[in-house]
Amino acid sequence: MYIAVMGYGTVGAGVVKVLKMNRDHISRKSRHGPIDVKYILEIREVTDENAHLVTKNFNDILNDKDIHVVVETMGGIHPAFDYVSACLKAGKSVVTSNKELVAEKGLELLTLARANQVNFTFEASVAGGIPIIRPLSGSLNGNIIEEVAGIINGTTNFILTKMITENMPYADALRLAQEKGYAEKDPTADVEGIDACRKICILSALAFGKHVHPRQVCTEGISKLDLKDTKYAGELGYVIKLLGRSKRVGDQISVMVSPALVKKESLLANVSGVNNAVLVRANAVGEIMMYGPGAGMMPTASAVVGDVIDCCNHYMRPKFFGWSEDAGDDFIKDYLDVETALFIRVDRSVDKAKIKEAFGDVDIIEKDDVAFITPVAAERELRIKAEGLGCEVKSVIRVTDY
Ligand code: HSE
Repeated sequence: MYIAVMGYGTVGAGVVKVLKMNRDHISRKSRHGPIDVKYILEIREVTDENAHLVTKNFNDILNDKDIHVVVETMGGIHPAFDYVSACLKAGKSVVTSNKELVAEKGLELLTLARANQVNFTFEASVAGGIPIIRPLSGSLNGNIIEEVAGIINGTTNFILTKMITENMPYADALRLAQEKGYAEKDPTADVEGIDACRKICILSALAFGKHVHPRQVCTEGISKLDLKDTKYAGELGYVIKLLGRSKRVGDQISVMVSPALVKKESLLANVSGVNNAVLVRANAVGEIMMYGPGAGMMPTASAVVGDVIDCCNHYMRPKFFGWSEDAGDDFIKDYLDVETALFIRVDRSVDKAKIKEAFGDVDIIEKDDVAFITPVAAERELRIKAEGLGCEVKSVIRVTDY
């Protein structure tokens, strides 16, 4: 079968490379034999050995009846959304690595794919090379999912790992991440949790069946974290991770992205550097965790190519993801009403008797600042009590039971 690749950046180039490198093997995994790239859509100049495949004209792909599967690795919403929609309407399956597109337009594109008897697949859109979309939409279908929690941004996990293990200040760790090519020159999407938010929206839709929009998710990044937070959390037996979390709470879900304390001995705590991991709690299987490289050329291409083979094998047979309606705001629980424990760091001037009066007999760390972990209660109630301590509240970080 012939395919086209739209966007020849790191991931697109990786897809072409994997398809060539493993061509014979892939031909044995594919119902219709070898899978070859016929077009690469790229407006920038390409000078490598694939330059002869390049077109700048999307219509070459759209109008070619030999193309049954199109890979979208352009990123962003425009023009990716228009191109993907046009391909689906033309009866071509689409494989994407574009988390922004899936988080914003996933329901619309899946509906369009179904209407046209083709597939829209997106394994690479969350946690790069780690298989998580398929487990959540297939292997775990016999379960009621209770919770999904993941380290789903490699850049911030790299920065936090440096802060925790080398005592490196946030700004230095960010600079190092930029030097190593993990963080962009403008790191906002990673460090402010925007990238992780898109990914938890996708995982939530698969786990709970409704399209959760990024604007519905309480999102906090790591840019305000201080070394005192990572140090004090360490002394209390925790590490701080940026987590995307989505949890069933009654007939609603709580979904958020924020720094969170996880116990030092937990599996998530030991995911370091740019690696990702996704933990799933479900009512039959119990707790499982998938771990591995969450970004990079070849790991991400691995996920895309897996989808390409699947789309070739399921030509004209749309997969069913159970992602079939929009989550109204009623479905999303206000994060302030969700029960949690909080790590609170306050100014040294605090009256410690007041802490005990407000929160009970908690362990208190006293250094340059004072820190403690509250008992579990509604976040709103805990924040009101913290404000009532009569001193500067420097940091409030959620504490998990992982
Ligand atoms: N910027 C993302 C990360 C890339 O750091 O995880 C993969 O989505």
